[in-house]
Formats: sequence, structure tokens, C-alpha cells
Amino acid sequence: MNIAIDGPSGAGKSTIAKILAKNLGITYLDTGAMYRALGLKAYLCGVSPCDEDAVKQLLTSTVIDVGAGENGTVVFLDGKDVSLDIRKNNISKMASDISALQSVRIYMVALQQKIAASKDSVLDGRDIGTVVLPDAEFKFFLTASAEVRAHRRYLELLSRGENCNEADILRDIISRDYNDSHRKFSPLKKADDAIEIDTTDLDIDGVENKIMNIIKEKK
Ligand code: DC
Repeated sequence: MNIAIDGPSGAGKSTIAKILAKNLGITYLDTGAMYRALGLKAYLCGVSPCDEDAVKQLLTSTVIDVGAGENGTVVFLDGKDVSLDIRKNNISKMASDISALQSVRIYMVALQQKIAASKDSVLDGRDIGTVVLPDAEFKFFLTASAEVRAHRRYLELLSRGENCNEADILRDIISRDYNDSHRKFSPLKKADDAIEIDTTDLDIDGVENKIMNIIKEKK
């Protein structure tokens, strides 16, 4: 069984995907973490995430591995655990820009499909229901107002001790939403057969109940 969860950043995808994976005893794959790892690599190497030729070249000397950890997807970049480094705020923009490149999408989608084919999984991202797993048994599209998503992200960064400003985060989120949904290749988009859930006024238990009921009903 594969479950696809798509939506903009801060809609609660990864929190709910982790819970579903635990409830159902399946693997969780955070596909955004893979784009973030490549964004981090570009950052470390001083490569522009918009320079397709340079990024293509970078991909030939990059190894991205993922595994399941207690707190979600563990990501290794060239053998080093970068699971925390990729969450830094400056890497979010790098990941969003780099994810717009066609060569990057081809590389990541193939890797994600291979992982999902090998075990029952819940994948979260932007193009899981539309491109990576168009035949997924369950597809959900989570949304929430930009303000609520920015506030959630603000609390998350604060809890990690990062210095941040909520207004800046809101601006970044709006700009990243635009980037992710207007790019040419695999833009953020609800699959026609995905169930949309607006999480603006729902706590995580509310979202979990909704999704688990839908899954139980169909199984
Ligand atoms: O989910 P996230 O915010 O960690 O993802 C980081 C960036 O990666 C996001 O701005 C868009 C991109 N992404 C993507 O293009 N496709 C995916 N399946 C997952 C993430």
C-alpha cells in the first residue's frame, strides 16, 4: 500500500505522514528532505540552485541516501547524516529553487519510485499524487492558510533554537508557494483524485482522525 500526501509547506504533511506510518506499520519517506539535501550540497559547493548545467554536474558527484529514523526520514549526503542541517531556513529556498530543475526532478522521482516500490510507504511532497505515485491507493492534499503555516514554522524553528521572525517566515512561505506551484516541471498541484483537507482550524488529532477514517472505510 502506498499513500501520497501533498500540499504546500507547513500544511502538516510530515507530522501526519509520520503518524500514519506508525499507525499502519509502513515506511515514511519525506521527499522534501531529498531536495533539501541537494540544496545543501549546492550551498556548500557554492553552486547556484538555478544553474541547471552546474547542478547536473553536481548530481554526478552526489550520493543521497535516506533511511527511517525515530523522528522521521534520516538523510545522508555523501555518507554524512545531514538530517538537521537541511532544516535550516536558508536551505528551504535553495531546495525550492533546485527542485524546479528538470534533471533534478528526473533523478529524485526515480529514486522515490524505487523506494516506494520496495515497501509499503507513505510519501509526502508536492508531486507524489500527480507524478511519483499516480496509482497510489490513497491520496491526500493538505492545505492551510499561509498565516497559520507561517506560525507553525515559526514555532518549529524557535523550538530548535533558530533565530527567526514570523513576518519574514510568512514572506518566505508565500514566495516558496509561488515558486513551487508555478514551476514548469511537476508543480505543486492537487491530483484530481486526491482528497483535500484544510488543516487551518484542525489540530493534528483532527487531521489524523479524518485520514484514518477514510483509510479504514476503504480497506
Ligand atoms: O517539504 P519541504 O518544504 O521540506 O520541501 C522543500 C522543497 O522541496 C519545497 O520547496 C519544494 C521541493 N519539493 C518538491 O519540489 N517536490 C517534492 N516532492 C518535495 C519537495
